[in-house]
Amino acid sequence: MRFKLFSILTLLPLTMSAATIQKSDFGKTADGAAVALYTIKNGKGMEAKIITYGGAIVSLKTPDRTGAMGDIVLGYDTLAEYAAGKSYFGALIGRYGNRIAHGKFTLDGKAYSVPVNNGENALHGGIRGFDKRVWTARELPDGALELTYKSKDGEEGYPGNLAATVTYTLTDANTLRIHYIATTDKPTVLNLTNHSYFNLKGAGDGDILGHLVTLNADEYLPVDAGLIPTGELRLVDGTPFDFRHGRTPGERISQPDQQLKLGNGYDHNWILNRPEMGPGMLSLAARVEETGVSGRIMEVYTDQPGIQFYTGNFLDGTDKGKGGKVYNQHAGFCVETQHYPDSPNKPSFPSTILRPGQKYDTTTEFRFSAK
Ligand code: BGC
Repeated sequence: MRFKLFSILTLLPLTMSAATIQKSDFGKTADGAAVALYTIKNGKGMEAKIITYGGAIVSLKTPDRTGAMGDIVLGYDTLAEYAAGKSYFGALIGRYGNRIAHGKFTLDGKAYSVPVNNGENALHGGIRGFDKRVWTARELPDGALELTYKSKDGEEGYPGNLAATVTYTLTDANTLRIHYIATTDKPTVLNLTNHSYFNLKGAGDGDILGHLVTLNADEYLPVDAGLIPTGELRLVDGTPFDFRHGRTPGERISQPDQQLKLGNGYDHNWILNRPEMGPGMLSLAARVEETGVSGRIMEVYTDQPGIQFYTGNFLDGTDKGKGGKVYNQHAGFCVETQHYPDSPNKPSFPSTILRPGQKYDTTTEFRFSAK
């Protein structure tokens, strides 16, 4: 299986987009900034709606096995709910996706403190991370949406003026591509991702415990009680973390496994198996299939070294989603392609340091089909 997955490589610009893009209003933030909603449609009827607040994907319509379109991402109806929300529905995450232990790290001998917002630790870029900022939008000729955010030196405790550009492209192959670019004027740490919660049956339609999940990873990172990786790389073989051959999360999520208890379910970073790759080459990280009502399949391709597979363990029904639907525990799953959590404090993990003159450049694709 691993060998088969390895052979599925792709060069980036293979699938061209012929999408259309339209802009409308999505209201104003509490401090008066206008937020726009962009609707991108491809030639096959697939549609993505993205707001400039947090660069969040607020709706994603893909075909089921009968060709019927359904919205498969969790989200809210209004800007005020996105602003108040604590679940990061659909949002771009930065500067540092996932956790930094105790909100502290040292870079080039200098100690930095970033706000602690998740128990003792820093999560997803701070109190007001990239998910709570208004991005500047530009429509590209191929119907793609380019979003730019300039994060100031010292914002949320991170050093350096950082310029981030994220481009969302919808291709006629029913692929949603997210391309992240960033530069800095001082050394900093960076780990950008997107925090969409998917339910391939349709947002708000029950839980995702029966989805068939394949993760192309022989190892994962065990965590401590604060969900910080211990530093150990553990083989998935013989554990409930083995998703190499397609298993449903529901099958083993309640097993008496210490790591499942700590995560309150699956909330861990898997280390992706990756072949030797050249620039701009992606490989299959995850495949999720809803074999029941919809037949929808989502494949995740990335050039990132890790993926956080999170089964919506902390959703508890207090979030009312689009159309008033209640999101209970496991109403959605996230597949956050990323560098490993707490890398700034783990010299043995691949580096997340970005220096002046370097270009952060990474791509993730979500490819949709149905059978
Ligand atoms: C984290 C979870 C967290 C969720 C929402 C995920 O990326 O791993 O622990 O609850 O984001 O904040």
